[in-house]
Amino acid sequence: MSNGLDTARRRFLTGAATVVGGTGAACAAWPFASAWQPSERAKAIGAPVEVDIAKLEPGARLTVKWRGKPVWIVRRTAQALDSLAVLDETVRDPASDEPQQPEYARNPHRSIKPEILVLVGLCTHLGCAPSYVRQGEGNLGADWMGGFFCPCHGSRFDYAGRVYQGVPAPLNLEVPPHMYLSDSRIRIGEDGGAA
Ligand code: FES
Repeated sequence: MSNGLDTARRRFLTGAATVVGGTGAACAAWPFASAWQPSERAKAIGAPVEVDIAKLEPGARLTVKWRGKPVWIVRRTAQALDSLAVLDETVRDPASDEPQQPEYARNPHRSIKPEILVLVGLCTHLGCAPSYVRQGEGNLGADWMGGFFCPCHGSRFDYAGRVYQGVPAPLNLEVPPHMYLSDSRIRIGEDGGAA
């Protein structure tokens, strides 16, 4: 009788241990699955990308990847901003009439905050990657005020990504949807505007 009881208890305890073991295995698997799935899904749908611009110096450029494309963030200097009005007569679409930017970037500096430029870094001709050429750099002539130069077929863009007249690229560089989470943090890929 005592033996039968022990056997029954042993069976119960063995069963309980198996259930606990199974639950433990499920618990161990869940954190991995929940951390892994959103990131893969997010990648597939082109989730927004957050960028810290706190250390971006005047004149410097940061590049991040969003939906497989390079996105540039440039902190423009006063000279870069001043050059925009001067080039209104030189560029093809000075007032950003073409839909190459969200409505909140349809202004003389094509950005939410004047000093911070956010652009997709792909030429609107055939998709090459233009170079960032500041005033005084490169061999683009004495009157080059700085901006972007596409080496593939020679298209030029100013410090707001506006395309020059007479070059192969037909449109201004694209401004992606973006928003400020704080003064130093931008989310690329989501409309919002200033923080
Ligand atoms: S791809 Fe840039 S000029 Fe042709």
